[in-house]
Amino acid sequence: MALDPAFLEELRARTPIAAVIGRRTKLVRSGRNWKACCPFHGEKTPSFYVYDDHFHCFGCGAHGDVITFVMQSEGRGFPEVVAELAAEAGLEVPRADPRQRESEQRARDLAEVLELVQAAWVRRLHAPEGRGGLAYLRGRGLSDETIAGFGLGWSGDGRGGLLEELRPRGVTPDLLARAGLMRVDEEGRPRGELFFNRVTFPIRDRRGGLVSFGGRILGDGQPKYLNGPETELFSKRRVLFGMDRARAALRVARPRGAPPVELLVVEGYMDVIALHQAGFPGAVAPLGTALTPEQMEALWRLAPAPILCFDGDGAGQRAAVKAAETALPLLSIDRTVRFCTLPEGEDPDSLLRARGAGAIAALVEGARPLSAVLFDLLTRGVRDPGPEQRAALRRRLAEAAAMVADKGLAAEYRSTLLDRFFETYRRRPGGGPRKDGAVRRSVVTMDAAPFGTLAATEERMRILTAILLRHPALLPEVEDAYCRLDLPPALGRVRAALMDAASDGVPMDAGALAAWLDEAGLGEDRAAVLSARPLPMAVTAADDLMAVDVAQEWWHFYALMNVRQFGEDLRGDTERMCAGTLDERAWASLRPRLLAWEALRRGEVSVDEA
Ligand code: UTP
Ligand code: MN
Repeated sequence: MALDPAFLEELRARTPIAAVIGRRTKLVRSGRNWKACCPFHGEKTPSFYVYDDHFHCFGCGAHGDVITFVMQSEGRGFPEVVAELAAEAGLEVPRADPRQRESEQRARDLAEVLELVQAAWVRRLHAPEGRGGLAYLRGRGLSDETIAGFGLGWSGDGRGGLLEELRPRGVTPDLLARAGLMRVDEEGRPRGELFFNRVTFPIRDRRGGLVSFGGRILGDGQPKYLNGPETELFSKRRVLFGMDRARAALRVARPRGAPPVELLVVEGYMDVIALHQAGFPGAVAPLGTALTPEQMEALWRLAPAPILCFDGDGAGQRAAVKAAETALPLLSIDRTVRFCTLPEGEDPDSLLRARGAGAIAALVEGARPLSAVLFDLLTRGVRDPGPEQRAALRRRLAEAAAMVADKGLAAEYRSTLLDRFFETYRRRPGGGPRKDGAVRRSVVTMDAAPFGTLAATEERMRILTAILLRHPALLPEVEDAYCRLDLPPALGRVRAALMDAASDGVPMDAGALAAWLDEAGLGEDRAAVLSARPLPMAVTAADDLMAVDVAQEWWHFYALMNVRQFGEDLRGDTERMCAGTLDERAWASLRPRLLAWEALRRGEVSVDEA
C-alpha cells in the first residue's frame, strides 16, 4: 500500500527530527545543526549529523529522514512508524488513494489471470494437443527439467478454448484483453486469442511475478516469435527474460573458489534457456529490442559489469555500438558493461549445441571492457590515418568519453582511449609507406588531395557513395578502397549501413537497398546523397550502363582525391600482378582502375553538369 506523497511530506514537516532522535541519542549542537555518536555503529567521537529534514553519518553512511530513523533504530515497519508519528503530530493517516487502491486491485487481478493462463498452457503442453510442441522443445535439446523449470507451455489452437476453460474461474474476455492475450472489439466481444499454435514462454519480472508471454511457432513461419503487448503489468522497456532466475542465481552465495555467476545478456529466449541448462544461470535477454536504459539499470542492480553478447556480423556490431551508446552516459565507477563477440553465424544456443559449454566459458572468460570495445568500434577500418583523419579520430574518441556523465570517469575514459590511440597509430619515422612487403593499405587523406579544397573532396566522397547506392553490386570490388575513406558523418552513416546490408545478405540492387536504408532510418541521408548536383553519368543515366563503365567512373572519382597516390597504388598492383602476388579483389578492380587512369591522363571529364 502506497501513501499519498503529500501526506508524507506533511508528516515529515510536522515532526521535528532532532527531537525524535534526541529522545534516543544524546545530541550536541554543531552550528545550526546537531551531532551525536552514531546510534548505528559504535564510535567514540561524533560523526552522526542531524539536519533540518534528514540525518547522515559520515562514519557508516547511515542516512535517512525521521521515518527511516525510527524504522532503523527500532527495527519496525513503515506503516506502524507512520501511524505512531502521525498520532504524535496530530495527523490522520489517509486511507490509500481510492484510484490507486483500484489500480493495485486491478494489477492483482491481472496477475491472477496470467497465472491461470500459465497453468492451462503448461497442462496443455503435456496433453495430447501439446505433443508437437513438447517434441519441438525436446528436439531443441531442452530437458524435461528445463521445460518445467521455465514453465514452458503450449498455447492450444486459439479457437476460443482458453476463454471456455477459464470462464468458470471468473476470467472474462475483457480481463484476457487487458492481460494482452486476446483482442476484443469496441463492444468488448472476443476477437481471437493472440497466442495460438505456439510454444509459450512465461515472462516474469525480477521478483518472479508473471507479466506476459512470448510464443514461438514450431519450425519456420512468420512471425517466428510473438511477444505480448504492453499492458498495465508489462513494459517491454523494463523487463528482461530470465531476470528472476538470474537474480536468484546471483544472490546465492558461491562456494569458495567457485567461479562467480556472470550476468550475461543475450538476444533470444532460446539462448537464455539453453544457457541456463548448460550451467550459465545468469543469462537474460531483452524482448526483441535493443537494450534500454531502464534495462541497464535493472542489470546493474544485480551486477556491476554485466557481459553483453553480440554477433560478429554487421547487425551484431551495430547493436553493440547502440548498447555502448546507451551505457556511456549511465556509467559510474561501479557500473560498467563488458562485451563478448560470438563467432559469426552463431547464437549462444547454436554455439552450445555445436561446441558445448566450454565454448561459452571461453567467451565469458574473454569478455572485454567497454573502453577497449569502444576503441575498436570507433576506429573500425582505420589503418594509416593522415593528420586530418588523426584529428577527426581523436575528436571522435574524446566525444565518446565526454558522453560519460560522471566527470572523473569521463576523464579516465578520455585518457584511456587516447593512450590507446597513440599506441595504435604511432607515426612511423619518416612517415613513408611500410617497407614490410605487405600489401600496402594506403589511406586517402584529404591533405594529400592535389585539387585543393575540402569541399571538393567531400563532393567526391558523396559522388562515390551515390554511385554505390545506384549500383551496389559494385561494392565488393571497391569495398577496401571505399572503407579507407574518412567520410563526413552523414556519408559515414550511409556507408556503415551499406556494409551492413551487404553482410546481412540484402539483395544488391538499388531498389532493395533504398528500402533497407529507409527502414534503417537513413532515408534523409540517402536522399541527400542522391539529390545534390552534380552527379556523374553512372548515377543519372538509365540502368543499362556496362558494369565496367560504372566501375571505371567510380575509380575516376576515387583517383581525383589523390591522383599521385592512385597512380602509385596502381603501379604497385600492376607489378604484383606480373609477379603473380596480387590479391583477388585488387585483381578484379585492376581493369577499371587502369581505364580510369588512362582517361584521367587524356583529360576526360565525366561529371554531368546538367
Ligand atoms: P532470433 O530470430 O535471433 O531467434 O530472435 P533465436 O533466438 O535464435 O530463435 P530460435 O533459435 O530460432 O528459436 C531473437 C529474439 O528476437 C525476438 C525474440 O525475443 C527472439 O528471442 N524476436 C525474433 C521477435 O520478437 N520476433 C520475431 O519474429 C523474431
Ligand atoms: Mn537461435
